[in-house]
Amino acid sequence: MKAPSPDKRPSVRIRELTSISDYRRLPDIQVLVWGHGERDLTPAHQYRISTQMGGILLGAFIKKELAGFVYSFPAVFNRKLVQHSHHLAVLPQFQGYGVGKALKWAQRDRALRQGYSRITWTFDPLQAKNANLNFHVLGGICRTYLSDFYGTGSALNLGPKIPTDRLLMEWPIRQKRVERRRRGNFDTCEQTALAKALERKTASSNSRAVNPRLKLHDKRILAEVPLDIRGWREKKRLDLIAAWQAGLRRVLTHYFGQGYAVVDFLFGDRCFYVLERRRSR
Ligand SMILES: CC(C)(COP(=O)(O)OP(=O)(O)OC[C@H]1O[C@@H](n2cnc3c(N)ncnc32)[C@H](O)[C@@H]1OP(=O)(O)O)[C@@H](O)C(=O)NCCC(=O)NCCS
Repeated sequence: MKAPSPDKRPSVRIRELTSISDYRRLPDIQVLVWGHGERDLTPAHQYRISTQMGGILLGAFIKKELAGFVYSFPAVFNRKLVQHSHHLAVLPQFQGYGVGKALKWAQRDRALRQGYSRITWTFDPLQAKNANLNFHVLGGICRTYLSDFYGTGSALNLGPKIPTDRLLMEWPIRQKRVERRRRGNFDTCEQTALAKALERKTASSNSRAVNPRLKLHDKRILAEVPLDIRGWREKKRLDLIAAWQAGLRRVLTHYFGQGYAVVDFLFGDRCFYVLERRRSR
């Protein structure tokens, strides 16, 4: 579905969710957005206690309808206090209207006011649309690959036997790069130039999904991901999803180990993670 142009987007109002009746609506949204079964649902009482103890829970409303929410709780990462964001969900009929973005920026505002410098979260690296949001739109980075993090056998998997691999996102919410993204500066020209310059520095791509290049030493390298794996899921081509996942896992774990981090994402007919060498080992 093509997103409506910004002037046609409905206005979104964001407010904290603070009542038991608010919390009780959230498991239903989880079911509609992720198809979670009972075993995977986060219950209302979890939202209740974590908001009492410093969590941030925001709802997005279109007219009077709850269109989505974002939820995070205090956590420790690299010995620093962070907010860890566990849910970002927008109901299917409201997706593509800017609601997800608005929720993340509002989450950042709240976290800044509470004195935080970092928000973390996990997401499935094969979801190109989410990767674009996380890296390119929000300015997050990643240097941690979590293999089969939630185990198999739930709605969190892309298929019954496909591991739940995740990237651990770090969002340095006080840094200038994030502030620039907040103001809508996405360095598009720089991106186009980058994509051209990097054509030969692609560690994994369509033709190399299973057999990636692991001996690159350039300052920046690319790793390709499929544009949209939903079609493969619908056609039950789980073999293709598994092959891409295995290839991407090899590439990212290898280059993270060499001191690279994912710092951006190129979204188009073909999609690429942009890795940058941060330090040498
Ligand atoms: C991911 C999700 C929260 C995004 O919310 P949303 O309201 O649909 O997204 P927005 O309209 O705010 O768009 C945010 C960004 O996502 C990306 N995006 C959204 N729709 C897209 C599309 N159809 N194609 C490509 N990118 C898209 C873009 O980067 C977009 O930013 P831009 O418009 O500045 O380019 C929502 O789609 C969702 O609930 N998905 C299912 C649950 C999920 O994946 N949660 C996140 C786990 S990390």
